Amino acid sequence: MANTLPERTPALPSRGDNRGMDRAEISRLAHARHPIAAPVSADRAKALLRRLAPPGGSRVADLGCGQGEWLLTLLEVASGVRGTGVDSAPGALASAARSAARRGLSGRVAWHQADAATWADGEFAAVLSVGASHAFGGLDGALEAIRGHLAPGGRVLFGDAIWEAPPTAAAQAALGAGASEFPDLAGLVERVEKAGFEPIGGHVSTREEWDDYEWSWTGTLAEWALRRPSGDEDRTEALAAARTHRDEWLRGYRNQLGFVTLVLQDVRVPQDVTA
Ligand SMILES: C[S@@+](CC[C@H](N)C(=O)[O-])C[C@H]1O[C@@H](n2cnc3c(N)ncnc32)[C@H](O)[C@@H]1O
Repeated sequence: MANTLPERTPALPSRGDNRGMDRAEISRLAHARHPIAAPVSADRAKALLRRLAPPGGSRVADLGCGQGEWLLTLLEVASGVRGTGVDSAPGALASAARSAARRGLSGRVAWHQADAATWADGEFAAVLSVGASHAFGGLDGALEAIRGHLAPGGRVLFGDAIWEAPPTAAAQAALGAGASEFPDLAGLVERVEKAGFEPIGGHVSTREEWDDYEWSWTGTLAEWALRRPSGDEDRTEALAAARTHRDEWLRGYRNQLGFVTLVLQDVRVPQDVTA
């Protein structure tokens, strides 16, 4: 299963030979001005996170946390809560740790470089996972994994891709995704319900959020490339990645790929109510 957001594009090779720029490094640079690696504004993210309302003293986990922006914002709005961020990319986790230090949150958060599909550390009052379903083999695998980490009755912030319109051949080619790879909004909500979660809030990314995100992704990467000396290999690679990505967005999936972020309530009865 491919990634659902810009990291997936063919312009971003995953290098095993330690030469040149790999996908994770390109992604880290591209997100410098938009640390949420999804088309969601900072204000909207904060409003969604407030709905999680984890109790003071509880633990929350973010699976595929990237640069940690969702988790750190949650710690800022939920006093006394401790966070654990899990991601496979060391560069993103290093950025997350720096950001936590800048915001005075280092003492309340731990970062783990691990495969989120196999990592385990008990139950959490709330679980976040935004744009990372590919780590679990897709939507259903992600929901099942989230449930495995969640205390009964806990809440979830879950973000994933949807088709907002039947995808054209150009959109499918740009994303390397078939028409059946993503559900539409109703289809995604149906699968969320089947997995034992009730949506209690949600947000479909707007055109403005998508455009802000894509301009930021491509523009920040291009700007970084253009600061490097001519003839520099990373300059050439990063600029090519920014241009290819912009083309795939504008000629391919713009207005067809959507993104939804849901606040979910686990329908199981919390243990402290049944006890
Ligand atoms: C689109 S980014 C989303 C990051 C973050 N949730 C956000 O919204 O800002 C997807 C993240 O999943 C991470 N990832 C991909 N596969 C993973 C795996 N198997 N285990 C842990 N993290 C993974 C990537 O490194 C990347 O940081």
